[in-house]
Amino acid sequence: MPCAGRTFELWLLLGLTIFCVFANTSLSVFVDTRAVLHCPNATSNVLVVTWSVIFRDNTSCIRAYRTDSNKTREKTCTDERISWDSRPDQNFALRINPVAITHEGYYKCEVVTPDGNFCHGHHLQVLVPPKVTLSLGENGTTVCWAVAGKPAAQISWTPMGDCHTVEEQLGNDTVTVQSTCHWEDHQVSEVSCFVSHVTGNKSLSIEMNPG
Ligand SMILES: *[C@@H]1O[C@H](CO)[C@@H](O)[C@H](O)[C@H]1NC(C)=O
Ligand SMILES: *[C@@H]1O[C@H](CO)[C@@H](O)[C@H](O)[C@H]1NC(C)=O
Ligand SMILES: *[C@@H]1O[C@H](CO)[C@@H](O)[C@H](O)[C@H]1NC(C)=O
Ligand SMILES: *[C@@H]1O[C@H](CO)[C@@H](O)[C@H](O)[C@H]1NC(C)=O
Ligand SMILES: *[C@@H]1O[C@H](CO)[C@@H](O)[C@H](O)[C@H]1NC(C)=O
Ligand SMILES: *[C@@H]1O[C@H](CO)[C@@H](O)[C@H](O)[C@H]1NC(C)=O
Ligand SMILES: *[C@@H]1O[C@H](CO)[C@@H](O)[C@H](O)[C@H]1NC(C)=O
Repeated sequence: MPCAGRTFELWLLLGLTIFCVFANTSLSVFVDTRAVLHCPNATSNVLVVTWSVIFRDNTSCIRAYRTDSNKTREKTCTDERISWDSRPDQNFALRINPVAITHEGYYKCEVVTPDGNFCHGHHLQVLVPPKVTLSLGENGTTVCWAVAGKPAAQISWTPMGDCHTVEEQLGNDTVTVQSTCHWEDHQVSEVSCFVSHVTGNKSLSIEMNPG
């Protein structure tokens, strides 16, 4: 019977080879959704699969699965939102559910086979759609907000007015954008605020009170 009592470190040593067929890709996912990260397809029998994650705060987590003993091991993986997507003997993918901003980072899957190693790295970026509102302010101004978006949203107006736009960085890497406008032309009866964001654009309109 092979190596029933081997340590986690020895498992990882199995993965330390000179060469790894390597690819990195970028992956953007929405916050609060379910994300599945895949391992590279191996061309022959898989011996060990290792997921190594370095989060954006430089903490890390390692999960490994050995096919011969059908056993999993993990190291400093405390976040229960991250797990094998299904039973590792069926699918080597990693699941994050639900995705949070703190899950941003670098996820590497290494597949060890007798013919060599296959590696795939995912640079994970988390997107947060902003909450968009439009309302009348004081003195005939109109205010459009794109609250807590990641990355920051862009606000534009129709018709173009005399506008002042400020950004506020929230602690969690999201940004609130506030644009306040007024129109010298008193014939303007309706204005629209257009919020452009990678998670989707949004347009809101409001009627202006004459006087
Ligand atoms: C993949 O990304 C990692 C982390 O940023 C980097 O260290 C490595 O050199 C990259 N590999 C390739 C083949 O681009
Ligand atoms: C792995 O194989 C599956 C099915 O053949 C394919 O859909 C998938 O794109 C492949 N993945 C990679 C990373 O090549
Ligand atoms: C993480 O580590 C890298 C390189 O070691 C360093 O440049 C970066 O500032 C660190 N980030 C944090 C959030 O500690
Ligand atoms: C691997 O172990 C799990 C339980 O830990 C079991 O359900 C599964 O059938 C085993 N798979 C194989 C291929 O032996
Ligand atoms: C509204 O306009 C008046 C007169 O121009 C000015 O005194 C007041 O500060 C303005 N209020 C705001 C909230 O801008
Ligand atoms: C980020 O922080 C703001 C302000 O505290 C909060 O309203 C928002 O829900 C947070 N967003 C995420 C995705 O954590
Ligand atoms: C959102 O608006 C931007 C700027 O106008 C545009 O480039 C982009 O294609 C739009 N995206 C969608 C999904 O409509």
